[in-house]
Amino acid sequence: MSSNNDMNLLLKIWRQPDAQTKGELVDYNVTGISPDSSFLEMLDVLNEQLVTKGEDPVVFDHDCREGICGMCSLFINGEAHGPGKSITTCQLHMRSFKDGDTIYIEPFRATAMPVIKDLVVDRTSMEKIQQAGGYVSINTSGNTQDANALPIPKADADAAFDAATCIGCGACIATCKNASAMLFLSAKVSQFALLPQGKVEGAERVKNMVRVMDEEGFGNCTNTGACEVECPKGISLDNIARMNREYLSASLAD
Ligand code: SF4
Ligand code: FES
Repeated sequence: MSSNNDMNLLLKIWRQPDAQTKGELVDYNVTGISPDSSFLEMLDVLNEQLVTKGEDPVVFDHDCREGICGMCSLFINGEAHGPGKSITTCQLHMRSFKDGDTIYIEPFRATAMPVIKDLVVDRTSMEKIQQAGGYVSINTSGNTQDANALPIPKADADAAFDAATCIGCGACIATCKNASAMLFLSAKVSQFALLPQGKVEGAERVKNMVRVMDEEGFGNCTNTGACEVECPKGISLDNIARMNREYLSASLAD
């Protein structure tokens, strides 16, 4: 149902058929957008309007639409996940914009995350980092120790939990001028490094994950800190310092 508050917007959206073909920003006028709708709902309305006109809808990633899955990877007006603080694109609402605004919408860009189509990028490189060590092996012999029998300092448990809130969205990589994956990787290392269950494979984990990160073509960290600012989950740079300590001690032990 339309209301007097509905907005008309000019969208400048990156269209690109595939990684091999050059892309460009294309103008779209979208009308009748409720300020209460989410950013992705606004794109749904645009796509309905495009399909009605027989045009190719804009391809964008999404799944949970509630800030959990990390799929909704959009650069909005030059910021990963748009103007909101500590939210994902799917949690951004149109009341953050004004009637008549021009909005630039682009994919997360990094050499290691090539465009699949339009606003969707291939984040297989991030999955490979995870596969290299983002897990804890479980003893299924029947003699497994009850996890609650291992006392863990509250501060360590809290820091491990904070690291585990990384949703693997890639905003840190897209924001970094070097396209570094260090904040992402450091969260995945830290969530285990602080817990006794994670220490068993700790040295191998950090070495393997860093090796794959380098193989996949991510850039180096130069301590700019933009990743931390744009991370929707507030993952701290402290995790990068912890990961560097883990990597150094694992390398020295070799
Ligand atoms: S560290 Fe933050 S920005 Fe990077 S992948 Fe995890 S949640 Fe996304
Ligand atoms: S769609 Fe899942 S975090 Fe946005």
